[in-house]
Amino acid sequence: MFDFKYYTPTKVVFGRNTESRVADLIREFGGTKILIHYGGGSVVRSGLLKRVTDILDSAGISYVTLGGAVPNPHLGLVYEGIELCKKEKVDFLLAVGGGSSIDSAKAIGYGVANEGDVWDFYDYKRKAEGCLPLGVILTIAATGSEMSDSSVITKEEGLIKRGYSSDHGRPKFAIMNPELTMTLPDYQTACGCADIMMHTMERYFTNGGNMEITDALAEGLLRTVKKNALILREDPKNYDARAEVMWAGSLSHNGLTGCGNDGGDWMTHKMEHELGGLYDVAHGAGLAAIWGSWARYVCKDCLPRFRRFALNVMDVGERGSDEETALAGIEAMEEFYRKIGMPTNLRELGVKPTEEELALMAKKCADGVGGEMGSAKVLNEEAMLAIYRASM
Ligand code: NZQ
Ligand code: ZN
Repeated sequence: MFDFKYYTPTKVVFGRNTESRVADLIREFGGTKILIHYGGGSVVRSGLLKRVTDILDSAGISYVTLGGAVPNPHLGLVYEGIELCKKEKVDFLLAVGGGSSIDSAKAIGYGVANEGDVWDFYDYKRKAEGCLPLGVILTIAATGSEMSDSSVITKEEGLIKRGYSSDHGRPKFAIMNPELTMTLPDYQTACGCADIMMHTMERYFTNGGNMEITDALAEGLLRTVKKNALILREDPKNYDARAEVMWAGSLSHNGLTGCGNDGGDWMTHKMEHELGGLYDVAHGAGLAAIWGSWARYVCKDCLPRFRRFALNVMDVGERGSDEETALAGIEAMEEFYRKIGMPTNLRELGVKPTEEELALMAKKCADGVGGEMGSAKVLNEEAMLAIYRASM
């Protein structure tokens, strides 16, 4: 067990109709002039945005709105949001939507609270010293950004997708009403489930520091999401299944399932970020498309964890050898992906990179992690290229 810090300051308000408490929560955290930030229009079509602005109007809280955060949110809109906040003297951000709106709002918050170019933080040049306070009304269970310290932004020039993590960016509150996720297309629900599971799997497949309590939480979370993702496939309006998945999404990425470990592996995420930057694929689908190839590449170097995953999460039972058990677990995970409509390779994801593009992604990925990274197995550029090739 390694030493750890566990810091989750976000006030979670969970359940039906909880969005009706948004004005009280904004006041509680000192907001007087709000920027409501949202995505491509789902919150307009569902009527959620109108409900929120009606509540703020009734409460006498003034606001401006900025929509347009796209999946793999763009730096250009972040700059626009920063200017708008400065002009309108905004003192509180409200993201209404999914990870893309939340991450874009966090970036706007860093840009307002710090001098200079906000991209510097995502380019690992310096650290933020603050962030405008932020609240969230979540509409998709996926990234865990509603409680996480991370924000992932794509710079249009060079299609560079990078994450920045800082406690300053953790939301002050997160309103989570599982009913709001019922308008999601099945594909996005499945992408969310894949992402949620991967946030715990990145922390689970390590070579150090694992704790019994953390493993029990991690395995319980993975089993819960697996079970409820399949229920939602058949019954998308199932409130309890939506609720299980939504809460799992937050717990999976707020640090809980990594306490005591060595920091986790994170290479599936890093490699997906290159795909997301270059081909604009949905994040959860990109993760699913790469994971099997990554798992087979690193499995022998992290065998006890893969064996444990096969037995305790995928429930495949002991096979002839530990390696056979581990491989059966990987196959069972891929079978699960197929059942929920997720790809298990790049072809199924719908992208066909050339050899040059594969090499470019491997190079950008290696550069982004300072040469090499990973806990299940340390990967360099050559290893990343081999995994991209295997996922074709
Ligand atoms: O943009 P709108 O119109 O709202 O539509 C969205 C979008 O098309 C739609 N949607 C969301 N809620 C809906 C809905 N449609 C109908 N009904 C609803 N209730 O779903 C699509 C995906 O939304 P998005 O916000 O992009 O999804 P997600 O939450 O998966 O966020 C993905 C982004 O977060 C990053 C990803 O890389 C990607 O850029 N990540 C952020 C992390 C973090 N901040 O901690 C960690 C993750 O690992 C991840 O990298
Ligand atoms: Zn993710």
